Amino acid sequence: MPAALPRALTDSWRAARHAVVLCGSGVSAESGVPTFRDAQTGMWASFRPEDLATPEAFQRNPSQVWDWYAWRRELCDRIEPNAGHLALARLASAMPRLTLLTQNVDGLHQRAGSPEVLEIHGNIHRNLCFAEGTPVSDADMIAGRPPTCVRCGSLVRPAVVWFGEAIDSDMLDRALEACRDCDVFISAGTSSEVYPAAGFGRIAADTGAVLVEVNPDETPLTPICDYVLRGQSATLLPALVAAYISDEERQ
Ligand code: OAD
Repeated sequence: MPAALPRALTDSWRAARHAVVLCGSGVSAESGVPTFRDAQTGMWASFRPEDLATPEAFQRNPSQVWDWYAWRRELCDRIEPNAGHLALARLASAMPRLTLLTQNVDGLHQRAGSPEVLEIHGNIHRNLCFAEGTPVSDADMIAGRPPTCVRCGSLVRPAVVWFGEAIDSDMLDRALEACRDCDVFISAGTSSEVYPAAGFGRIAADTGAVLVEVNPDETPLTPICDYVLRGQSATLLPALVAAYISDEERQ
Protein backbone atom coordinates (compact mmCIF):
# COMPACT_ATOMS: atom_id res chain seq x y z
CA MET A 1 0.00 0.00 0.00
CA PRO A 2 1.69 3.31 -1.04
CA ALA A 3 2.14 5.85 1.75
CA ALA A 4 -0.36 8.75 1.65
CA LEU A 5 1.23 12.16 1.06
CA PRO A 6 -0.33 15.48 2.08
CA ARG A 7 -2.21 17.01 -0.85
CA ALA A 8 -0.40 20.37 -0.63
CA LEU A 9 2.95 18.59 -0.69
CA THR A 10 1.96 16.57 -3.72
CA ASP A 11 1.02 19.76 -5.55
CA SER A 12 4.38 21.45 -4.87
CA TRP A 13 6.25 18.27 -5.58
CA ARG A 14 4.59 17.68 -8.92
CA ALA A 15 5.51 21.20 -9.98
CA ALA A 16 9.16 20.73 -9.01
CA ARG A 17 11.75 21.16 -11.74
CA HIS A 18 14.84 20.80 -9.56
CA ALA A 19 14.92 18.75 -6.38
CA VAL A 20 17.82 18.23 -4.04
CA VAL A 21 17.69 15.00 -2.05
CA LEU A 22 20.15 14.83 0.84
CA CYS A 23 20.57 11.30 2.17
CA GLY A 24 22.00 10.03 5.43
CA SER A 25 22.65 6.62 6.85
CA GLY A 26 18.94 6.00 7.51
CA VAL A 27 18.47 5.58 3.75
CA SER A 28 20.75 2.54 3.84
CA ALA A 29 19.36 1.18 7.13
CA GLU A 30 16.88 -1.09 5.39
CA SER A 31 19.73 -2.52 3.29
CA GLY A 32 21.41 -3.58 6.54
CA VAL A 33 23.92 -0.76 7.11
CA PRO A 34 23.83 0.41 10.74
CA THR A 35 23.13 4.13 11.19
CA PHE A 36 25.63 6.23 13.09
CA ARG A 37 23.63 7.68 15.96
CA ASP A 38 20.59 5.52 16.65
CA ALA A 39 21.01 4.67 20.30
CA GLN A 40 20.59 0.91 20.17
CA THR A 41 21.90 -0.06 16.75
CA GLY A 42 24.07 2.82 15.48
CA MET A 43 27.77 2.36 14.84
CA TRP A 44 28.71 5.04 17.34
CA ALA A 45 26.88 3.07 20.06
CA SER A 46 29.63 0.44 19.90
CA PHE A 47 32.62 2.54 18.82
CA ARG A 48 33.94 5.94 19.79
CA PRO A 49 34.37 8.19 16.73
CA GLU A 50 37.63 9.54 18.09
CA ASP A 51 39.01 5.96 18.17
CA LEU A 52 38.20 5.29 14.53
CA ALA A 53 37.22 8.21 12.34
CA THR A 54 39.82 10.91 12.77
CA PRO A 55 43.26 11.45 11.18
CA GLU A 56 44.75 11.35 14.69
CA ALA A 57 43.17 7.94 15.38
CA PHE A 58 44.57 6.67 12.10
CA GLN A 59 48.07 7.88 12.93
CA ARG A 60 47.81 6.35 16.39
CA ASN A 61 46.49 2.97 15.34
CA PRO A 62 46.12 2.49 11.56
CA SER A 63 45.58 -1.26 11.87
CA GLN A 64 42.60 -0.82 14.18
CA VAL A 65 41.05 1.79 11.87
CA TRP A 66 41.60 -0.48 8.88
CA ASP A 67 40.03 -3.45 10.73
CA TRP A 68 36.89 -1.35 11.16
CA TYR A 69 36.82 -0.20 7.55
CA ALA A 70 37.49 -3.73 6.28
CA TRP A 71 34.48 -4.90 8.29
CA ARG A 72 32.34 -2.10 6.83
CA ARG A 73 33.54 -2.79 3.28
CA GLU A 74 32.67 -6.46 3.60
CA LEU A 75 29.25 -5.47 4.91
CA CYS A 76 28.72 -3.12 1.95
CA ASP A 77 29.71 -5.90 -0.47
CA ARG A 78 27.11 -8.26 0.98
CA ILE A 79 24.10 -5.95 0.87
CA GLU A 80 21.87 -4.59 -1.88
CA PRO A 81 20.29 -1.21 -2.61
CA ASN A 82 16.77 -0.95 -1.20
CA ALA A 83 13.56 0.49 -2.63
CA GLY A 84 14.55 4.00 -1.53
CA HIS A 85 17.81 3.93 -3.52
CA LEU A 86 16.01 2.46 -6.53
CA ALA A 87 13.30 5.12 -6.41
CA LEU A 88 15.89 7.92 -6.43
CA ALA A 89 17.60 6.35 -9.44
CA ARG A 90 14.25 6.32 -11.22
CA LEU A 91 13.57 9.93 -10.29
CA ALA A 92 16.81 11.05 -11.97
CA SER A 93 15.41 10.22 -15.39
CA ALA A 94 11.96 11.69 -14.67
CA MET A 95 12.82 15.11 -13.26
CA PRO A 96 14.44 17.91 -15.28
CA ARG A 97 17.13 18.30 -12.63
CA LEU A 98 17.83 16.13 -9.61
CA THR A 99 20.80 16.71 -7.32
CA LEU A 100 21.49 13.70 -5.17
CA LEU A 101 23.72 14.52 -2.21
CA THR A 102 24.68 11.68 0.03
CA GLN A 103 26.58 11.48 3.29
CA ASN A 104 26.76 7.73 2.80
CA VAL A 105 30.00 6.14 1.72
CA ASP A 106 28.52 2.74 0.82
CA GLY A 107 28.06 3.26 -2.95
CA LEU A 108 24.48 1.95 -2.88
CA HIS A 109 23.06 4.87 -4.89
CA GLN A 110 25.38 4.10 -7.79
CA ARG A 111 24.59 0.39 -7.55
CA ALA A 112 20.88 1.30 -7.72
CA GLY A 113 21.54 3.17 -10.98
CA SER A 114 21.72 6.82 -9.93
CA PRO A 115 23.71 8.47 -12.71
CA GLU A 116 25.25 11.25 -10.64
CA VAL A 117 25.84 11.28 -6.90
CA LEU A 118 27.70 13.89 -4.89
CA GLU A 119 29.34 11.77 -2.19
CA ILE A 120 30.12 14.51 0.25
CA HIS A 121 31.77 12.17 2.78
CA GLY A 122 33.63 10.10 0.18
CA ASN A 123 33.38 6.43 -0.73
CA ILE A 124 34.48 3.51 1.40
CA HIS A 125 35.58 1.49 -1.62
CA ARG A 126 38.26 3.94 -2.71
CA ASN A 127 41.64 4.75 -1.13
CA LEU A 128 43.93 7.73 -0.73
CA CYS A 129 47.59 8.15 0.06
CA PHE A 130 47.64 9.43 3.64
CA ALA A 131 50.70 11.65 2.99
CA GLU A 132 49.71 13.12 -0.36
CA GLY A 133 45.90 12.87 -0.40
CA THR A 134 46.00 11.44 -3.93
CA PRO A 135 43.87 8.49 -5.12
CA VAL A 136 45.54 5.09 -4.80
CA SER A 137 44.37 2.20 -6.98
CA ASP A 138 44.72 -1.42 -5.89
CA ALA A 139 47.69 -1.72 -8.27
CA ASP A 140 49.44 1.20 -6.53
CA MET A 141 49.10 -0.30 -3.08
CA ILE A 142 50.95 -2.93 -1.07
CA ALA A 143 48.17 -4.88 0.62
CA GLY A 144 48.17 -5.33 4.38
CA ARG A 145 46.68 -3.85 7.50
CA PRO A 146 47.58 -1.11 7.08
CA PRO A 147 48.25 -1.04 3.32
CA THR A 148 50.99 1.23 1.97
CA CYS A 149 51.48 3.34 -1.14
CA VAL A 150 53.96 1.91 -3.68
CA ARG A 151 54.83 5.40 -4.92
CA CYS A 152 55.89 7.02 -1.63
CA GLY A 153 55.73 4.32 1.04
CA SER A 154 53.15 6.24 3.09
CA LEU A 155 50.14 4.63 4.71
CA VAL A 156 47.05 4.24 2.55
CA ARG A 157 43.71 5.34 4.03
CA PRO A 158 40.06 4.96 3.03
CA ALA A 159 38.77 7.83 0.83
CA VAL A 160 36.23 9.02 3.38
CA VAL A 161 35.91 12.30 5.25
CA TRP A 162 36.84 11.96 8.91
CA PHE A 163 35.92 14.18 11.83
CA GLY A 164 37.96 17.36 11.72
CA GLU A 165 38.46 17.16 7.93
CA ALA A 166 36.92 19.47 5.34
CA ILE A 167 34.77 18.17 2.54
CA ASP A 168 36.05 18.73 -1.00
CA SER A 169 35.60 22.42 -1.83
CA ASP A 170 34.41 21.87 -5.43
CA MET A 171 31.84 19.40 -4.17
CA LEU A 172 30.72 21.83 -1.47
CA ASP A 173 30.34 24.59 -4.08
CA ARG A 174 28.23 22.32 -6.29
CA ALA A 175 26.07 21.30 -3.34
CA LEU A 176 25.51 24.90 -2.26
CA GLU A 177 24.64 25.99 -5.80
CA ALA A 178 22.07 23.20 -5.99
CA CYS A 179 20.59 24.09 -2.59
CA ARG A 180 20.11 27.71 -3.72
CA ASP A 181 18.60 26.68 -7.06
CA CYS A 182 16.21 23.87 -6.09
CA ASP A 183 12.47 24.24 -5.58
CA VAL A 184 12.12 21.19 -3.32
CA PHE A 185 14.69 19.95 -0.81
CA ILE A 186 14.23 16.50 0.73
CA SER A 187 16.27 15.53 3.79
CA ALA A 188 16.07 11.74 4.06
CA GLY A 189 17.42 9.48 6.78
CA THR A 190 19.81 11.94 8.35
CA SER A 191 19.95 13.17 11.93
CA SER A 192 20.90 16.66 10.63
CA GLU A 193 23.64 16.89 13.20
CA VAL A 194 26.79 16.89 11.10
CA TYR A 195 27.75 20.09 9.26
CA PRO A 196 28.02 21.31 6.59
CA ALA A 197 25.32 18.90 5.31
CA ALA A 198 23.08 19.66 8.29
CA GLY A 199 22.88 23.28 7.11
CA PHE A 200 21.91 22.57 3.50
CA GLY A 201 18.16 22.37 4.16
CA ARG A 202 18.07 25.79 5.78
CA ILE A 203 20.02 27.30 2.87
CA ALA A 204 17.50 25.82 0.43
CA ALA A 205 14.53 27.01 2.52
CA ASP A 206 16.01 30.52 2.80
CA THR A 207 16.10 30.72 -0.99
CA GLY A 208 12.50 29.58 -1.36
CA ALA A 209 12.57 25.79 -1.57
CA VAL A 210 9.86 23.62 -0.03
CA LEU A 211 11.57 21.65 2.74
CA VAL A 212 10.59 18.01 3.33
CA GLU A 213 11.95 15.62 5.93
CA VAL A 214 11.75 11.82 5.62
CA ASN A 215 12.67 10.26 8.94
CA PRO A 216 10.97 8.14 11.61
CA ASP A 217 12.27 10.54 14.29
CA GLU A 218 12.48 14.24 15.00
CA THR A 219 15.74 16.03 14.11
CA PRO A 220 17.05 19.59 14.55
CA LEU A 221 15.77 20.29 11.01
CA THR A 222 12.19 19.26 11.81
CA PRO A 223 11.00 22.62 13.20
CA ILE A 224 11.74 24.48 9.95
CA CYS A 225 10.37 21.82 7.58
CA ASP A 226 7.26 22.50 5.51
CA TYR A 227 6.38 18.80 5.52
CA VAL A 228 7.54 16.02 7.81
CA LEU A 229 7.00 12.47 6.59
CA ARG A 230 7.43 10.15 9.55
CA GLY A 231 8.48 6.68 8.49
CA GLN A 232 11.11 4.71 6.69
CA SER A 233 12.79 5.95 3.55
CA ALA A 234 12.41 2.62 1.73
CA THR A 235 8.64 3.23 1.89
CA LEU A 236 8.41 7.01 1.67
CA LEU A 237 10.94 7.73 -1.10
CA PRO A 238 9.18 5.31 -3.49
CA ALA A 239 5.86 6.98 -2.59
CA LEU A 240 7.27 10.42 -3.39
CA VAL A 241 8.78 9.24 -6.65
CA ALA A 242 5.58 7.46 -7.67
CA ALA A 243 3.62 10.65 -7.00
CA TYR A 244 5.99 12.63 -9.21
CA ILE A 245 6.17 10.12 -12.03
CA SER A 246 2.45 9.42 -12.18
CA ASP A 247 1.97 13.11 -12.88
CA GLU A 248 4.70 13.12 -15.54
CA GLU A 249 2.91 10.29 -17.28
CA ARG A 250 -0.35 12.22 -17.31
CA GLN A 251 1.21 15.24 -19.09
P1 OAD B 1 22.83 9.33 11.86
O1 OAD B 1 23.04 7.99 12.47
O2 OAD B 1 23.32 10.51 12.61
O3 OAD B 1 21.28 9.52 11.62
C1 OAD B 1 20.53 8.55 10.99
C2 OAD B 1 19.12 9.05 10.87
O4 OAD B 1 18.38 8.10 10.11
C3 OAD B 1 18.40 9.22 12.19
O5 OAD B 1 17.78 10.52 12.24
C4 OAD B 1 17.34 8.11 12.18
O6 OAD B 1 16.13 8.52 12.83
C5 OAD B 1 17.11 7.95 10.70
N1 OAD B 1 16.63 6.63 10.27
C6 OAD B 1 16.85 5.43 10.84
N2 OAD B 1 16.25 4.45 10.12
C7 OAD B 1 15.67 5.06 9.07
C8 OAD B 1 14.91 4.60 7.95
N3 OAD B 1 14.66 3.31 7.76
N4 OAD B 1 14.45 5.51 7.06
C9 OAD B 1 14.72 6.84 7.23
N5 OAD B 1 15.42 7.33 8.26
C10 OAD B 1 15.90 6.46 9.17
O7 OAD B 1 23.44 9.30 10.38
P2 OAD B 1 23.77 10.50 9.42
O8 OAD B 1 22.82 11.63 9.58
O9 OAD B 1 23.96 9.92 8.07
O10 OAD B 1 30.00 11.20 8.86
O11 OAD B 1 25.18 10.94 9.98
C11 OAD B 1 25.86 11.97 9.33
C12 OAD B 1 27.32 11.70 9.38
O12 OAD B 1 27.74 11.45 10.71
C13 OAD B 1 27.78 10.45 8.66
O13 OAD B 1 27.93 10.64 7.28
C14 OAD B 1 29.09 10.18 9.30
C15 OAD B 1 28.71 10.38 10.74
O14 OAD B 1 29.66 10.75 11.57
C16 OAD B 1 31.31 10.93 8.83
O15 OAD B 1 31.76 9.83 9.10
C17 OAD B 1 32.13 12.10 8.39
